[in-house]
Amino acid sequence: MRPRGTIARRLLPGAGVLLLAWLVVARPPIGAQSFERFFPARDLTTVGVYYYPEHWDPAQWERDFRNMAAMGFEFTHFAEFAWAQLEPEEGRYDFAWLDRAIGLAARYRLKVVLCTSTATPPVWLVRKYPEVLATDEDGTRMDHGSRQHASFSSAFYREYSLKLIEQLARRYGSDERVVGWQLDNEPRRFLDYGKDAPGRFRGWLEKRYGTIDALNDAWGSAFWSGTYTSFGQVNLPLHRQWGTNLHQRLDHLRFADDETATFLDGQARVIRKHAGGKQWITSNYIPMYDVGYVGASRELDYDSYTRYMVYGGDRGLGPRGYRVGEYTRIAMANDFFRPLKGMYGVMELQPGQVNWGAINPQPLPGAVRLWLWHVFAGGSRFVCTYRYRAPLYGFEAFHAGIVGTDGVTPTAGGREYAQFIGEVRRLRERADPGAPVPAAYARRATGILLDTDSIQAIALNRQTTEWNTESHVLKYYRALKSFGAPVDFVREGADLARYPVLVVPAHQMVDEGLIAALARYAEQGGTLVLTCRTGLQDRRGHLWEAKFYEPMWKLIGAEVESYDLPMPHAPNVVRFGAQAFEWSSWGDLLKPWPGTDTWATHEGDFYAGTPAVVSRKLGQGTVTWVGVDTRSGGLEKLVLARLFGERGIGIEAYPEGVLVEYRDGLGVALNYSDQEFVVPLPAGAEVLVGDTKLRPAGVLVWKSPRGVVPKA
Ligand code: GAL
Repeated sequence: MRPRGTIARRLLPGAGVLLLAWLVVARPPIGAQSFERFFPARDLTTVGVYYYPEHWDPAQWERDFRNMAAMGFEFTHFAEFAWAQLEPEEGRYDFAWLDRAIGLAARYRLKVVLCTSTATPPVWLVRKYPEVLATDEDGTRMDHGSRQHASFSSAFYREYSLKLIEQLARRYGSDERVVGWQLDNEPRRFLDYGKDAPGRFRGWLEKRYGTIDALNDAWGSAFWSGTYTSFGQVNLPLHRQWGTNLHQRLDHLRFADDETATFLDGQARVIRKHAGGKQWITSNYIPMYDVGYVGASRELDYDSYTRYMVYGGDRGLGPRGYRVGEYTRIAMANDFFRPLKGMYGVMELQPGQVNWGAINPQPLPGAVRLWLWHVFAGGSRFVCTYRYRAPLYGFEAFHAGIVGTDGVTPTAGGREYAQFIGEVRRLRERADPGAPVPAAYARRATGILLDTDSIQAIALNRQTTEWNTESHVLKYYRALKSFGAPVDFVREGADLARYPVLVVPAHQMVDEGLIAALARYAEQGGTLVLTCRTGLQDRRGHLWEAKFYEPMWKLIGAEVESYDLPMPHAPNVVRFGAQAFEWSSWGDLLKPWPGTDTWATHEGDFYAGTPAVVSRKLGQGTVTWVGVDTRSGGLEKLVLARLFGERGIGIEAYPEGVLVEYRDGLGVALNYSDQEFVVPLPAGAEVLVGDTKLRPAGVLVWKSPRGVVPKA
């Protein structure tokens, strides 16, 4: 085995000096106000498509770009998995083909997004330096022949990737035909057990805890004789070994999240050194809410996501709902990604059938266009689709493209793209960029405070298999969308006062600072909704040496005496006024203090009559504790509806799957349900796209009457 760092020094002479230079010259991310430069508001959105020149006869490239442009696409995307073509052998780069492709694209006024190819190291690299391959916890090492098999914990891979990126950025960083960069592909979290990972983990722990005593304390190592006397004794945890320390496992996940986040940050710094602020930098994340790396790379200008809606996995609404997809998948991704950096895009949106689902149905006619409008409705200024030509070979044979296997005939999805692009072009003449959204919509603005750390910690120790944090959150989210509320998923540190209503779901790990911030939010007039599991533990994931949830009591105005977890075959019932709801995952048993009202009580078990939902006034606002997770989400919806009512915030009652959003002086209604819905347009609204009779998968866009207040 070669000693660590030797090859890095050989390949990157003066790496330390270079690093220093980057720190000095690299500019910060472009910042929200500068998005206008890349994505002018008057354009509303721009639409692009992936193209893989290396897959096709170069004689066909020009024809393909001509057809692409004729369909209305405004940008294309190259070099995503092309390391083998860019660096055919160590240190020998070949950019001639990429130069030619960029030149031909430009001939048809297609801007180019470049990718960094680090998801696919070439075979010579992994054969020569096999330690870059990720190894799983059973010791199986990945091999060449797939993608995403190199580990972000390989110090050599991290450094060597930057060498390729430096070459790319030097060549294209000031090329005006290139508008932006996508780093890697769907970056993921590796739980790598390869050569460098244990040492990097130990280094990360040392930085986090400083002393081994502090680590022992955080990990509760007194338990089961787990005590360490030096960092050198700490290994990567074996997640599959029964009983492995949960705090150690959580730290391993956090560490791996950081490896991904910093791998991307390193790439971004190299590109920015050459591109300055002239090209934007993003990555294309799979929307996942139980990992810490999404949105954690600070050097990215904004974060974008990928979405596949029809893949045989979701049933959607009604018997054919599986052909339209589950509406919260795009809705939640929009509302999660937009607040991260104030702007988001969608890098991949399926154009038709995929090949990788267990069953790969055709989307319903209209569904592709529905998704495009849904991305638009969330405020995105760009959307791209995977991919232009349907592949003829390889792992993704049978995957749809914008054109079919003959390379020229638009597919049904391709035609829907062209339709959307045409509609947007017409809207560009009619929209009112930057116009305020209607006041009634702005007043409903709701924040949902998500804490990845808590979500991960809960997943490691759920206490009941009936609990699922994402579906818990979705119960509130679905209710809010049916009210027609604009929702932002926010992180701690966000300006909570922007939201008249704030939901804090299952935020298990807290500290006094957060409790105080939430109290302030309510005292200053906020409508605060806290849900079960919030505040059970400190930030290390230790239960309080106090009564159950005790540090939360002063905020919620109630004691939590204990909690129950029934068996799924015998669900319990909670009553809210005249209605009863089944629950089988988590139920708190509450004892409200004077001044705190009981809104719902348990029924039918030995604790019948015990409060499950309580609410109180605090300063100018209110605090409501929903200590139960119902199966249908019906109670959660009633609680929110009552709160909106009490606070004088008007809500809509859209049927499930009907969504209405506003942007740039436009209203957009989308129908994921299997029923027609007639959109109650405000007086004076002018229909620009579609029909007020919104059929399933239908879209309606109208110009809203001049708004009155800016979006909260
Ligand atoms: C995505 C991935 C693309 C492509 C696509 C196929 O998850 O980012 O590179 O593989 O799936 O549907």
